[in-house]
Amino acid sequence: MTDNASDRQIRIFDTTLRDGEQAPGCSMTLREKLRVAKALSELNVDVIEAGFPAASPGDFESVKAIADANFGPIICGLARCNAGDIEKVHAAVKGADRHRIHVFVATSKIHRDHKLKMAKQEIINSAVGAIKMARELCDDVEFSPEDASRTELSYLAEVVTAAIEAGATTVNIPDTVGYTVPAEFDKLFGYLVSHVPGIDDITLSVHCHNDLGMAVANSLAAVQAGARQIECTINGIGERAGNCSLEEVVMAIKTRAEFFELETGIDTTRLYPTSRLVSSITGMHPPRNKAIVGENAFAHEAGIHQHGMLQHSSTYEIMRPEDVGLSSSSLVLGKHSGRHAFRDRVQELGFELDEFETNRAFQEFKKLADKKKDLYDGDIEAIIMNVDNASVGPWVLQSLEVQTSTDQPARAAVTLLGENAEVASASAEGDGPIAAAFQALEQVTGVDLTLRNFELHSASRGEDALGEVTVTVEHDGSNYRGNGTSVDIVEAGSRACLECINRILRRKDRGSDTDSSADAERATI
Ligand code: KIV
Ligand code: ZN
Repeated sequence: MTDNASDRQIRIFDTTLRDGEQAPGCSMTLREKLRVAKALSELNVDVIEAGFPAASPGDFESVKAIADANFGPIICGLARCNAGDIEKVHAAVKGADRHRIHVFVATSKIHRDHKLKMAKQEIINSAVGAIKMARELCDDVEFSPEDASRTELSYLAEVVTAAIEAGATTVNIPDTVGYTVPAEFDKLFGYLVSHVPGIDDITLSVHCHNDLGMAVANSLAAVQAGARQIECTINGIGERAGNCSLEEVVMAIKTRAEFFELETGIDTTRLYPTSRLVSSITGMHPPRNKAIVGENAFAHEAGIHQHGMLQHSSTYEIMRPEDVGLSSSSLVLGKHSGRHAFRDRVQELGFELDEFETNRAFQEFKKLADKKKDLYDGDIEAIIMNVDNASVGPWVLQSLEVQTSTDQPARAAVTLLGENAEVASASAEGDGPIAAAFQALEQVTGVDLTLRNFELHSASRGEDALGEVTVTVEHDGSNYRGNGTSVDIVEAGSRACLECINRILRRKDRGSDTDSSADAERATI
């Protein structure tokens, strides 16, 4: 390793919107993807893989919208090795000043024999043809030999050599099934570095899955062996056990800079707000003990640890909470807190809201402060995350009444306000209050749903904590996800259910699929 600054620089390629979004339950709408893309650009990632445009018209539209927004990072789209996919990626990403086409084909024997039913040379020909075609459309072309970590080393080197000769500017080595271990991956990268002519002229990249819990460790082994781009996702979301977690790999490089002698361009103070944004949108909340962004990541409970911390924080803390965007103070706001204090806290928490968003969030804050004595950071974050969804109709929840008892079915009555100011009400019974409220919402809107998943998360502490509910429902063979928050969990659930109903109705109204939250419509890779 040299002292040359560019040699030390690791590019962060974020694939939250492609590999992350591909995971069950993590699909996002176009608006949500745009919010995440903006947050990723504020985090200062180098590349945003915005999606897989050939997967569905919705995916194409969202990649195009992100590219057209031109937030700053390179915008990349994924393609199989065929002309149709490559043309779609190009059409979707070309609006961004800096854009990339990422083509992939599987190379391992298992994939060759059972999935592709193609011989070794056919795969090389297909990769070379695709890279050459992509290079005619774009100067920045990435190639990935899928399942590289289970591919014969000499064949992998042959494929990578051919890819570089064909014009690939980045070659990415995926551990697609999360099978490798750090020492083995180090050997694989070492082999490629010493056997592939021209490898020094391209960017070598790594892409790890977390099936054995080693995605971050394997990615770090790869950069030590010469990789200069890491592909990762916020909160490590992704297929199965997920992908390499962006916040973990970035903080490992920063915290152990004297060991790795590497750096990234990430603004680490944006890590926590970005993690919060992604978990609130997807409803996939990191476990409490998750490194860097878990609720307990900086909590010191044991007396001996607390004593040490009071003497000097470095006794038990290797990173400062503020380095990852967690505020160090635990200021509590209440109903007498003014707009100024609210806005300051929002900024300290790392959110950048414009005047309009601040006003809307402040109104919600005041409503919540009437119901709840103390408002913690988690409550404020939940308000900010949801302020965007609340206004999207056609239906808005006006009132909800619920009756429960231990020996009677639960009853719920809902009143909704429609977009033409019409008021509609219905009441229903159910086994529990959630079932009754959902029944009433289905009746009043005429939309039939099957509940597939219901998740409740407490946004802050205390009995009056704000509950964040994420529901997934099925309607006409497609899945829809909605979020809702309230101090009352039945109300939070009803708001989440109503968001699903609104998405279904908006989609019907449009008569087309520009809402990529419909998992069922997505083609599989
Ligand atoms: O895991 C994988 O192999 C991938 C490739 C498409 C890069 O996601
Ligand atoms: Zn992957």
